[in-house]
Amino acid sequence: MTIDLERARRDTPGCEHVLHLNNAGASLPPRQVLDAVIAHLDLEARIGGYEAAERAQAAVERVYDAAASLLRCARDEIAVVENATRAWDMAFYSLRFERGDRILTGMAEYASNYIAYLQVTQRTGAAIEVVPSDETGQISVEALRRSIDGRVKLIALTHVPTNGGLVNPAAAVGRVAREAGIPYLLDACQSVGQMPIDVAAIGCDMLSATGRKYLRGPRGTGLLYVRRAMLERLEPPFLDLHAATWVARDRFEIRADARRFENWETYYAGKIGLGVAIDYALGWELCAVRERVYGLAEGLRARLSALPGVTVRDLGAERCGIVTFTVARKTGTEVQKGLAARAINVSTSSSSGTRLDMEARGLAQVVRASVHYYNSEEEIGRFCDELRGLLR
Ligand SMILES: Cc1ncc(COP(=O)(O)O)c(C=O)c1O
Repeated sequence: MTIDLERARRDTPGCEHVLHLNNAGASLPPRQVLDAVIAHLDLEARIGGYEAAERAQAAVERVYDAAASLLRCARDEIAVVENATRAWDMAFYSLRFERGDRILTGMAEYASNYIAYLQVTQRTGAAIEVVPSDETGQISVEALRRSIDGRVKLIALTHVPTNGGLVNPAAAVGRVAREAGIPYLLDACQSVGQMPIDVAAIGCDMLSATGRKYLRGPRGTGLLYVRRAMLERLEPPFLDLHAATWVARDRFEIRADARRFENWETYYAGKIGLGVAIDYALGWELCAVRERVYGLAEGLRARLSALPGVTVRDLGAERCGIVTFTVARKTGTEVQKGLAARAINVSTSSSSGTRLDMEARGLAQVVRASVHYYNSEEEIGRFCDELRGLLR
């Protein structure tokens, strides 16, 4: 299947207003998602929030089946939460660490995850160890393999970082984790929606994702996958009457499924919208999405490399839809603002988001232009022309 660009753009109202290359920030949603969210908010306003949730129960429940199809797992292995960070946190803070335990991670690790490692290792005496990258810039699977011993209690990897097109070899890391029997937590926040993700093929035990980025869902939505065999071993860091049941004055029972990581009050319109967004993504086929996104991004990298004063910064043997670059004599923020004045959306990524990698490369800030399948070749050309004009 190939992407029908005309239909993709027709389905995306925002295309008429902006040249949007901030899909790794938040994608423009398709009309189908927008309509579903607005319809539910409208229903809530007309008949009441609880009553609307009851009436829309099938649409709310659909998100679990949609997410299970997307990640190729079972619906009871899915929790729907507020965002990717909270999804990741619920998994990470469920694990128990002791002095001497080791957590292995990579150079591209995201700030929120690393802050959590610091907090937990400072509390417990466990250690964080950063596996070096190989010559392509991805995590070195060989170095990871050499680091394994009986004290490694977690392998935690960011699949695609916030600051570049690198795609870490998640499945090769999964093979190391499986062979050693070590829990494996994958932050797939930036990858889900722009490529096929199969949790069994990757071999991860836990995976976090967000709604608003490449899935094109509503803001304030996220997903956690936890492998069924792992569920019972993970006691969530907080519980409520949705995650557990108060069965006697002195006793509670935790839910058996992944919804033990959710909480009772939730963004129903967002949940419905996320289900619609996932179904919409599946309708395009993620292989076709990947092919188009990777192709557009490579084309953009080639054009940027030809612009005087522009340096493309993406690492990796495999590179996805996130394109990062720096320009001589201008900060990333200046470039972003200049483009915003021309109705072109990009974002910037600073060292505090991915400190290990940015410091190792001596980078303070990069401009991030992240493409999606609904972006056109004409937009890529216009973007490069405007950038050239800005740099003159
Ligand atoms: C690698 C990575 N993980 C997690 C997150 C956090 O996602 P959310 O804002 O949905 O919590 C981001 C956001 O940019 C990210 O880039």
